[in-house]
Amino acid sequence: MKVLAKAVLAPKIVKLVIEAPAIAAKAQPGHFVVVRLNDRAERIPLTIADFDRNQGTITLIIQEVGKSTALINRMEPGDSFADVLGPLGTPYPIEKIGTVVGVAGGLGAAPLYPKVKALAEAGNKVIIILGAQRKDLLILMDELKAVGELIVATDDGSYGIKGLVTEPLRQILDREKVDEVIAIGPVPMMEACVKLTKERNVKTVVSLNAVMVDGTGMCGGCRVTVDGESKFCCVDGPAFDGLKVDFAELRQRQRYYRDQEQQAYHQHQHGTEGCRCHAK
Ligand SMILES: Cc1cc2nc3c(=O)[nH]c(=O)nc-3n(C[C@H](O)[C@H](O)[C@H](O)COP(=O)(O)OP(=O)(O)OC[C@H]3O[C@@H](n4cnc5c(N)ncnc54)[C@H](O)[C@@H]3O)c2cc1C
Ligand code: FES
Repeated sequence: MKVLAKAVLAPKIVKLVIEAPAIAAKAQPGHFVVVRLNDRAERIPLTIADFDRNQGTITLIIQEVGKSTALINRMEPGDSFADVLGPLGTPYPIEKIGTVVGVAGGLGAAPLYPKVKALAEAGNKVIIILGAQRKDLLILMDELKAVGELIVATDDGSYGIKGLVTEPLRQILDREKVDEVIAIGPVPMMEACVKLTKERNVKTVVSLNAVMVDGTGMCGGCRVTVDGESKFCCVDGPAFDGLKVDFAELRQRQRYYRDQEQQAYHQHQHGTEGCRCHAK
């Protein structure tokens, strides 16, 4: 599974095009892969942000948030993953439903893009709201603009509307009939979108980033509660009915390994010897 091309999209956000003909042949919007950098590395779930069946490639967009993503983002064309498992997950249903609003927070643009692209190709009216903390963290703007109307919001106002993605979402929901909202990004962002759509009873799909290990429904690590029932994010999702997700539980489960994750990232950045960061 060789890296064929690499592009830096934003600080700490990298796009890799991977040679993976068998995965590209079956990939659909909503699918993800589980990668291992080498045979001692941990398994990392990553969305298939795009695929090209003719070229036999898949595209991954990776944000460095810890040790494994830092190592992956250092890969260069010619480097290979030890393994890439996929496509995994339940594909997102693509049908003609009417007007769809896609809301992406930060890296959420990567999983949102294949879904809204396919929905536009299926004849839906697509409006996209893309949000980020600041201008240099906005990704996939050209690609999203090619799919439908694009509204951009930044927290600091350095590009587009100043503020959160929920304000333009509120305005669209007040102005026209929306058949479905797809919200993908950090958990608080998805929760805030769901709060607005729940009040108006608009169908809302969210993509959950529960901590995954095997990615095939065997370990139980990615359990989430939806409509009072236990679901495995890796096989039943990662897309779920946002109006029914127990976000409080998801937030709690995402924090389980925070100390170990921070320690591993710290050691990766500073090395185990000679670091005086926490010396009193
Ligand atoms: C279905 C799915 C699709 C994803 N797609 C993308 C993507 O396209 N691009 C991208 O950059 N990230 C994606 N992620 C998140 C990505 O898997 C994590 O950022 C990555 O595992 C972090 O590993 P780390 O060692 O760099 O950071 P760590 O320091 O280990 O963790 C940082 C944070 O990442 C999350 N995380 C850690 N381990 C896992 C794990 N095994 N499974 C899921 N989340 C984890 C936790 O919230 C954690 O607090 C996706 C997650 C899921 C579940
Ligand atoms: S990752 Fe193991 S059950 Fe989903």
